[in-house]
Amino acid sequence: MAWRLAQSPTLDTLYATPGNPGIAEHATCIALDTTDHAAVIAFARDHAVDLVVIGPEAPLVDGLGDSLRGAGVAVFGPDRAAAQLEGSKGFTKDLCRRANIPTAGYVRVNSRAEAEAALATTFGYPVVIKADGLAAGKGVVIAASEADATEAFDAMFAHGDAPVVLEEFLDGEEASLFVLTDGTTLMPFGSAQDHKRVGEGDTGPNTGGMGAYSPAPVLTPELERRAIDEIVAPTVEAMAADGTPFSGVLYAGLMLTSTGPKLIEYNARFGDPECQVLMLRFRGDLAQLLLAVAERRLDQAPPPAFVEDSAMTVVLAARGYPGTPAAGGAIAGIDSAEATGAVVFQAGTRLADGQLVAAGGRVLAVTAAGRDIRAARDAAYRGVDAIRFPDGFCRRDIGWRELAR
Ligand code: AMP
Ligand code: GLY
Repeated sequence: MAWRLAQSPTLDTLYATPGNPGIAEHATCIALDTTDHAAVIAFARDHAVDLVVIGPEAPLVDGLGDSLRGAGVAVFGPDRAAAQLEGSKGFTKDLCRRANIPTAGYVRVNSRAEAEAALATTFGYPVVIKADGLAAGKGVVIAASEADATEAFDAMFAHGDAPVVLEEFLDGEEASLFVLTDGTTLMPFGSAQDHKRVGEGDTGPNTGGMGAYSPAPVLTPELERRAIDEIVAPTVEAMAADGTPFSGVLYAGLMLTSTGPKLIEYNARFGDPECQVLMLRFRGDLAQLLLAVAERRLDQAPPPAFVEDSAMTVVLAARGYPGTPAAGGAIAGIDSAEATGAVVFQAGTRLADGQLVAAGGRVLAVTAAGRDIRAARDAAYRGVDAIRFPDGFCRRDIGWRELAR
């Protein structure tokens, strides 16, 4: 996002916190404790900041948007109450029930006894078991048997009672739809598919995402229309009617079932690594568009232009991810990768004595466009193959479903 914002013709200065060596090529990185809302407000005032773009979910759920708006600073990203669409699965399920939005059947529970009772009376296998709060993509278990469910409950109720959602298992292919909204106007912002499992063939534990591509042709214009009419628009209307309008980008995780799109979950932000492919395809003044959302005049903004191409991103992660990742692994070859035409976005990186090293689970996202998904894939992996990161790994099969089609 910083990379694309930095290209906005109307942008003067871009600050990022905390940033990383990659973001530092596009923004002035500053150390700010974003849980200290007064410090963020003071920085915005001192530097005459016109717009704050909140990227990740934790500060949204923590109400940083409310604090900044309260101080008169324009913000891209929802208030705390609206960020519950991502922050609480139970909140979103209840809203779907009220607004008649297609989603998996569910039961909310608060203890192991309630969970076991619901399992015995309401669900067959497989059943989906979700921690209610933020879990960095790791709070969902698909239990194929009673033994799996018992193991999931052991983990989720390890510290006593906790809010958990049990859900009916939905069958189908997943796709992600992005919609900008200022609380009233909706502006579709493209589609993507990601690969959540760590292993090739979509096996192994869930991660935050090992790669993605955009657009997702499986989400046809007709299915996109249905998803907006049946899922996103009623959500935005219900939030506004409740006095907690959602402003920002709504990322709808959809299951395309035999009876139509159903909502799996919402994110209250661009996803990672979905953001990388969307930003690569986006053409236009991103800062102005996000400002139009923040200032509730999205109806006057021109619709986003995307290059017709396909874009793909491949995540290079540190060995051990999604468990404890190996820290400090040396990274080289980013310039050679970019010389092939790819763009290398950095996530968990830092400089140690001038050497770029790994400092997180997902470390790099190597991203490229092409005239179709095959060309985008070839270009992204040309970039990947130019990078030397011996302590890292990636999946070699990003895009396999779409490539097979
Ligand atoms: P979530 O964090 O809610 O997106 O769930 C993570 C992943 O679990 C999703 O991307 C799906 O692959 C899977 N999942 C979640 N809910 C369901 C469901 N009701 N039926 C089938 N798969 C699901
Ligand atoms: N890749 C999914 C997410 O950012 O939550």
